Formats: sequence, C-alpha cells, structure tokens
Amino acid sequence: MTDPAIIIAVDGPAASGKGTLARRMAEHFGLRHIDSGKLYRATAWRVLRDGGDPNDSRLATRAARNLVENDLEAPELVDEIVGQAASRVATIPAVRAALVERQRALAVQPPGTIMDGRDIGTVVFPQADHKLFVTASLDCRAGRRWRELRDRGEDEDFDSVRRNLAERDERDTSRALAPLVPASDAVVIDTTDLDVEGALAAAIATIGFRDGMPAKTSELTVRQKP
Ligand code: CDP
Repeated sequence: MTDPAIIIAVDGPAASGKGTLARRMAEHFGLRHIDSGKLYRATAWRVLRDGGDPNDSRLATRAARNLVENDLEAPELVDEIVGQAASRVATIPAVRAALVERQRALAVQPPGTIMDGRDIGTVVFPQADHKLFVTASLDCRAGRRWRELRDRGEDEDFDSVRRNLAERDERDTSRALAPLVPASDAVVIDTTDLDVEGALAAAIATIGFRDGMPAKTSELTVRQKP
C-alpha cells in the first residue's frame, strides 16, 4: 500500500509571505508546492483576456472549468489588475467548486503537498495534517508588494498599492463563501518582524515530526496517547 500524502495548508492574506514560506517549506521537506491563488488568477486572466467582466459568473465559471496547464504560466498572472479580478471571480460559487476539485486532485499524490491560499485549511483540506495561518500588518504587506512591483519595473505609488491590498482583504474576508479566516486549529505566524529564514524557522518549529518528515496527524494522535 502506498503511504497517504501529507497535506500542509498555508493560508493568509495577500503579501503576508505565505507563498514564499510554502515554497521554502516544500523545498525543505521534498514535498510539492501548489499556489492555489494561481488558479484564481488564471481564471481571472482568461476572462480579462477575452474582454469579459470578472463579475460575470457564466464567463468566469466557463474559464475555471476549462483552465489548461499553459494558463498557469501566463506572465500576466502577477499583475495587480489580475489579482483584483481574481478576488472577484473568487466570490462565484461555481468557480470555487471547479477550482477546489482541481486542487484536491493535484494535492493527494504522495509524498504530499504544501498548498497556499485563503481557504485551504478551512474548506479545501479541513483534515490537513498541519495548518498555518500567515499574516503581517497592512503597512508591512503593502511595503513588500510595493518593492516587488518596483523590482519588476512597475511604477505604482505606495498609497495605491496599500489601498489595493486593503480592498482585496475586505473582499476576501467578507465574502459569504470560503472567506479568509484562520481555521480554528491553525497556528498563526505573524511575519511583520520576521525575514524569510525567520518565518521558515517559526513554521518548522510548529510542526510535529516523524523520521524527519512532517508527521501525519493520525500518527501524532497515536504518539500522544499516554
Ligand atoms: O499572491 P497574493 O496573496 O496577492 O494573491 P493570490 O494568493 O495569488 O490570490 C489572488 C486572489 O485569489 C485572492 O485575493 C483571493 O480572492 C483568491 N483566492 C481565493 O479565494 N482562494 C484561494 N485559495 C486562493 C486565492
């Protein structure tokens, strides 16, 4: 029998450092990393590219159901306008249903996956073996996103980057379906005063291990019995 896949959920708001942390943890443990935000961004990008409105549920649902590998590689996915549109398609139930199904299918291949997003620990994998919720102050996140944009040669002013993030936070936390909230059993990591190595060390310190790998929760339960 093959070993069941280890699933680690890393959720949090935009520019909290969750993507970098998930990628570094995946390298560290030899697990797959999946950035679920890319699926929402690719869906939004297909709609925008075809001249559509990201609030149009029929168009967005068709885009989500027809996503192909190539869509996930589009250079436009990192654009702010695509991030904003992604948070609009992400409020549409049929879009979420299509993308959640795809995330589950991708993640369960052994040895396992670290998936980052907004609802991984609450909706996509409520039974994940480990759950982290990564956050940071709005000013700190806006500063990170502003530096990322500047390094890519985009000339956005800090205030508009901060305003965009605040709007996206508002849309992500207030939507009816799969809102951005920490799972009740998630460990919260605030990266406001942590660099990448500090966040990685904090994350690793929260995780239970078995033979050098993150333990399956069931194994932890067995080990914790008196
Ligand atoms: O990288 P950043 O944090 O800016 O955004 P992202 O993770 O690429 O996600 C873009 C948008 O997709 C978010 O603002 C959410 O509205 C949506 N999303 C979601 O609803 N659920 C997820 N699991 C991942 C992203």
